[in-house]
Amino acid sequence: MTPPANDPVAHVPPAVPATAPVAIAPETFLIPNLAPAGPGVYLPVNSMIIRGREPVIVDTGAPLHRELWLEKAFSVVEPQDVRWIFLSHDDPDHTGALLDVLQMCPKATLVTNFFSVERLALEKPALPLQRMRWLEPGDTLDVGDRVLKLFRPPIFDGPTTRGLFDARTSAMWIVDSFACLTPGPLDADEMLPQDLAGMPSMNSAVSPWHAWLDGAAYARHVAAVQALGAHTVASAHGPVLRGERLATAFDGLRSLAGAPIIPMPGQELLDELIATTLVEAA
Ligand SMILES: [Fe+2]
Ligand SMILES: [Fe+2]
Repeated sequence: MTPPANDPVAHVPPAVPATAPVAIAPETFLIPNLAPAGPGVYLPVNSMIIRGREPVIVDTGAPLHRELWLEKAFSVVEPQDVRWIFLSHDDPDHTGALLDVLQMCPKATLVTNFFSVERLALEKPALPLQRMRWLEPGDTLDVGDRVLKLFRPPIFDGPTTRGLFDARTSAMWIVDSFACLTPGPLDADEMLPQDLAGMPSMNSAVSPWHAWLDGAAYARHVAAVQALGAHTVASAHGPVLRGERLATAFDGLRSLAGAPIIPMPGQELLDELIATTLVEAA
């Protein structure tokens, strides 16, 4: 039976390519998931795990992927071994499995900050203050065999956002910066230049305040992040970047300062989506 077109329960999201955890640096794993984002393209919803002497989970995915995320993350590390949960910020697409992880990883300390906890208090049950450490950009976290440095990413959609840099492997988690839809690959080196062409508009959508930025001041901030010396940059919503593609991505950020906001699709796209849905349901 064809479900009525206006029945929200009847909507079945299209299938997405299967993804699995992938090593992106020594003992450092991307935990990927994809969400449908248009014909043949997907939005990455990644997190990361550093499996050092004191294993670190870096963000906990989106509610949409909660079960998949738990399966993938705990195929890389045993819950009992996890010592740290680094929460980049309080957005729902980074806290999807947070409560599960806190429950399943009793030895883990949640690394977050005051304002994230304030904001999470409006949407989640009270989090265990005695299991937290509050750190700010510029602070460091000693995880046994390496010292992780927190920094404020160049593009962010939440004021609590902190990135993470591991000087031991030169791997960086840059959170919501460098978002880009993908036809499937999780690594920029496996994507065509045209696949990466949408990155500026995603950066603009995430941080539209770039239009009011002073170019010189912003360039100093981008340079400071770049000067940390990352060789591998992973992000929540884009491909893994290295080498020339990473340098190009940083250049793209600098060029956004003072540039007009890149418009997002409006009513025309909504009309098209509704028409497509009605045709499919008929
Ligand atoms: Fe965010
Ligand atoms: Fe995000």
